[in-house]
Amino acid sequence: MSDARIDAFGGDIVRNSVYIEKLDLAFSQFVVRSPTGARLAISAGMRADFDGFQRNLQAVGIDVAAIAALIVPHFEADEMAALPEFLSRNPALVAYAHPICAHALADIFPVKTRILKDETPVTINGEVVVPIHVKHVHQWDSLVVYLPRLKALFSSDIFMSYGPVDGAGPTLDAMVRSIEKSGYLPSLDYLADALGKLRKYDIDRVFPMHGAALHEAIPETIDGLAAYCEKTRPVEAALR
Ligand SMILES: [Fe+2]
Ligand SMILES: [Fe+2]
Repeated sequence: MSDARIDAFGGDIVRNSVYIEKLDLAFSQFVVRSPTGARLAISAGMRADFDGFQRNLQAVGIDVAAIAALIVPHFEADEMAALPEFLSRNPALVAYAHPICAHALADIFPVKTRILKDETPVTINGEVVVPIHVKHVHQWDSLVVYLPRLKALFSSDIFMSYGPVDGAGPTLDAMVRSIEKSGYLPSLDYLADALGKLRKYDIDRVFPMHGAALHEAIPETIDGLAAYCEKTRPVEAALR
């Protein structure tokens, strides 16, 4: 069983989610309206979920054909697989990604790509976007994006949690349980590095691709996860 839904956060952020009961895991894509009125998507989702994505967006007055840019957080099915469907609705769409991911996307799909440099702000269709490379969380080419205007971090697989997307954001314990249950991180060293980079940004809201959004105590959550890495890394190293 799966359950699809769409949620708005203020006037400029929309989240489409599919919750897969069997996995107890939700998959989300985000569409942001920039100050110029352009639409930017973050994560493409799976191909099989595209029709539902399109329908849900239509229900809130957004035409997929109007999405001018797609930010791909890493080269993995839930983040990029529906790219051909996006292109079928708007062949002029530009995909933005880490250099490794951008080259792969351009090789496979007839899409114009742009590379996102680490912590180098770029204006995409009127929205200032800060890409932050987060190597090996959990893919080599992973990045997250911070939008300063909205103080929002689109964190892809960081701060993920199992369960549906509704309700308050996950507790620190829930996030740690999710890391341990999924085993998706090659090493906590990389997560610790990523958290160290994120700590300096002024973040009010975090939108993970899996699980509920976080709306409060963001610095404390980053510090709490960093402390978990610090405490657990020696144990992990001893087991190697
Ligand atoms: Fe991933
Ligand atoms: Fe993911």
